[in-house]
Amino acid sequence: MLPRLILPLLCALFSLSATAQETVLRAGHVFNSETGTYMQDQYVRIEEGVIQGIGPWSAFDHDGTYIDLSDKYILPGLIDAHVHLTSDAGVHGYKRLTRSLARQAITGARNARRTVEAGFTTIRNLGAPGYADIALRDAIEAGDIPGPRIIASGPSLGSTGGHCDNNLLPAEYGLKAEGVADGPWALRAKVREVRKYGANLIKICATGGVLSKGTQVGAQQLTLEEMQAIVAEARLSGMKIAAHAHGNAGIRTAIEAGVDSVEHASFISEDVIAQSIKNGTYLSMDIYVSDYILSEGEKAGILPESLEKERVVGKIQRENFRKAVKAGAKIAYGTDAGVYPHGDNARQMHYMVNWGMTPAQAIQAATLHNADLLGLSDKIGQIKPGFYADIIAVSTDPIEDIQALERIDWVMKAGTVFKQD
Ligand code: ARG
Repeated sequence: MLPRLILPLLCALFSLSATAQETVLRAGHVFNSETGTYMQDQYVRIEEGVIQGIGPWSAFDHDGTYIDLSDKYILPGLIDAHVHLTSDAGVHGYKRLTRSLARQAITGARNARRTVEAGFTTIRNLGAPGYADIALRDAIEAGDIPGPRIIASGPSLGSTGGHCDNNLLPAEYGLKAEGVADGPWALRAKVREVRKYGANLIKICATGGVLSKGTQVGAQQLTLEEMQAIVAEARLSGMKIAAHAHGNAGIRTAIEAGVDSVEHASFISEDVIAQSIKNGTYLSMDIYVSDYILSEGEKAGILPESLEKERVVGKIQRENFRKAVKAGAKIAYGTDAGVYPHGDNARQMHYMVNWGMTPAQAIQAATLHNADLLGLSDKIGQIKPGFYADIIAVSTDPIEDIQALERIDWVMKAGTVFKQD
C-alpha cells in the first residue's frame, strides 16, 4: 500500500520524465563497472553533460524523444592511462627530428579525434615536447577540436642521457630534451616548471627504455633521492606521478619513492609485485605494443638496437603481466598509443584477456581502476548519477567477445555525441 503511494510522489519530486534540455538514452544492456555485470533495459537521463538518473526503462515516463540504444551493449567511456597523442606511429627514430613542434601539435589534433571515436573518452598523456599536450587539452576543452578529456604531463622528466632525454645527435648539436635535470633540487625545479606551464601530473623516466638510443632497459636512471624529491614536490600541489620503468631496480625504487603508477613494469619480480600491492601502486603494462614494434617498427624508423631490445622485453613483460594479475596487483589500462596508431587503443583488451584477465577485469582496468588512478573516480569510469555522460555503445557483448571493443558504434563524451554508426 505504502509503496504505491510513495512511488508516484517520488517520481514527481525527482521529475523522472524528460524535459527540453535533457538527453535520454534507452540502453539495452548497461555494464556496471563496479560489479562487472549488466543491467537490462535501462533509461539514462543526461543534463548538461552529466548523468542525472538511471533506472529501469519500464519505470520511466518516456513521452519525449530519446536515443534508442535498446539493442546495444552500453559501457562507460574507456580510459587509456598511457598515450602520446602528439606522436605519429609511422615516425620513429631519426625521422622524428624532421617534425617541428607545431607539426606535432597538428598530428595531436588528428590523433585526438581518432582516440575519442575509438571510445576512449579520457586519456592520460605521458610526455609531449613543447607542451603540445597542454595546448591540445585546452583546445578540446574549449570545443575547438574533437577529442578525449586529457590529463597531461607536459615534457617527461629524467636524467641526462636517459630515456626521457633525446640522444640522437652528437655533442656539438647540443640536443637535450626539455625535461632533463640531474639532482634532487634541479628535478624539483623541473616539477615546478611543468606545473607552471599547465601540467596535471608528472611523468618521470626511472630506467632506460626500448625506443631511446643508447639506453639499457634494465638500468636505473634516477636515484631514490631524486625520485623522492620529485614525488615530494609534486605532492605539494596534489599532482600524481607516473614512472616509466622496465628494470626491476628502477621499478622497486619508484614504488619506494611513492609514485602512483609504474609504466611498462616489464622486468618486475614477484617480490616487487607484492611491494606494489602493499603500496597501492598501479602497474600500467602495455602488452600489445610489442607486436606493432616488431612487425611495423623498422619501416617507421625504429632503430635496430631498439628492435633488439624489444625482442627481449615484449615476451618477459607479458609473462610478468600474467604473474601480476594472478597475484592480485592493481592493473591500469595503459597502451603507449603513439608508438602504434591512435584509435587502436582497444586492441590491448584482447591481449590482457589472453594473458590472464577475465573480459570484465580488462574492462574494469580501463574504466573503474583507471578512473581511480587518474584521481577522477567520482566523475568517470561508471554510468551513474553525478558522473560525466561518457558513454559508448557496441553491438556485440564484449564479455563474450572482448574484441567487440575494437568496433565501437556510438560514442558520447560529456553529453555530446562524437560518433554514431
Ligand atoms: N616507450 C616504451 C619504451 O621505449 C615502449 C616500450 C614498448 N615495449 C613493450 N614491450 N611494452 O621503452
